[in-house]
Amino acid sequence: MKTIHLVVGARPNFMKIAPLHHELLKYPDEYAIRLIHTGQHYDKRMSQFFFDDLGLPKPDEYLGVGSGRHGEQTARIMERYEKVLLKERPDLVVVAGDVNSTVACALDAVKMHIPVAHLEAGLRSFDRGMPEEINRIITDSISDWLLTPSQDGDANLLAEGIAPERIHFVGNIMIDSLVQHRERAVVSTILNNLGLKSHNYILITLHRPSNVDNREGLDTILSAFEQLAPEINLVFPIHPRTLKRLDEFGLRQRLDAIEGLMIIEPVGYYDFLRLQMEARLVLTDSGGIQEETTFFGVPCLTLRPNTERPVTIEEGTNLLVPLHTAGIVDQSHKVLYGKSEPARIPDLWDGHTAERIVALWRRDYDRLGSFG
Ligand code: UD1
Ligand code: UDP
Repeated sequence: MKTIHLVVGARPNFMKIAPLHHELLKYPDEYAIRLIHTGQHYDKRMSQFFFDDLGLPKPDEYLGVGSGRHGEQTARIMERYEKVLLKERPDLVVVAGDVNSTVACALDAVKMHIPVAHLEAGLRSFDRGMPEEINRIITDSISDWLLTPSQDGDANLLAEGIAPERIHFVGNIMIDSLVQHRERAVVSTILNNLGLKSHNYILITLHRPSNVDNREGLDTILSAFEQLAPEINLVFPIHPRTLKRLDEFGLRQRLDAIEGLMIIEPVGYYDFLRLQMEARLVLTDSGGIQEETTFFGVPCLTLRPNTERPVTIEEGTNLLVPLHTAGIVDQSHKVLYGKSEPARIPDLWDGHTAERIVALWRRDYDRLGSFG
């Protein structure tokens, strides 16, 4: 019997870990699963909602680290998770994505010579100004199993000199959750609840520090909303970071005054999938939403100068738009009034990634811990 820790911390981790959790449960004689929640995200709408929607059990360990500066938060996670590792000594630790919980738990594990598997390995924006890029580079360099969602991930890792036997192109595990829950999402009543009509609104999410942690960024974005709102409904489930910054910069009133813009609290997974599926356009700076819109074939404008997910541009429906009011409005108009570009779903974004990962581990069960 092997014990596997599945680590979650922030909103985008839940939909990446849930499919693996469900798949491992199929082999109760082979794997004991322990679900570890660092508590990086803790609001009900940023955490508990996803346990409910994704069918995840209560975490076996809740570290309750909360918010803080990068050093502070990362250190707190490391200090608390190390104690769990000392107690439990699992055979494998699985981390996902690029948040502070990912790098902190991976570091703890490798220093105790416990093997680490990284879900969503190999993604690179080549922008070291993003905290997530630092987290990706460090996590990939120390993980034993590098499980990539797209082949650009393999190429990035190989270019960094990582041994090919550690790299496994398994596909996009976030899409497993989407496929598993799509039917539930279709019957979500969120559109009715908000009084929205299909293909008649723009869905917005924003939380990147480069966009929302400075007044100019928020000002640019609000100006774009002011220009777009008279033409089409805007729906904005607002991230707590962004809400906090709007208040700090005294911009809340200006936002509230935009007629046709609906500010709502973050919504659960089914509701958000439904909002994406039915949107005419999505404006975002989220990583995962670039991928989900590509899967749904819904146009997405990403308000960033770069992306670690180039496949969503090359094959999918995504386009990068720099932070500039006229540019955001012009590109939105092209989507709203122009012709849509052909797009496809990238390879192995098929809902079977968790199966491929567990099959990989079972193929050589005794070597689970060693470099794949
Ligand atoms: C984090 C991740 C980011 C990811 C995002 C997904 C890092 C470095 N950043 O960014 O990569 O895209 O999650 O949503 O790991 N807050 C609350 N309630 C919560 C959580 C946060 O109010 O449940 C507020 C706090 O004021 C906090 C701020 O949001 O200081 C930022 O939270 P934090 O986890 O540090 O970063 P995110 O911006 O959420
Ligand atoms: N999401 C959600 N409700 C929301 C906003 C996002 O369920 O109000 C989901 C979205 O469908 C995707 C994930 O959260 O699965 C993306 O997380 P986020 O944008 O917070 O993080 P990122 O992907 O940028 O790291």
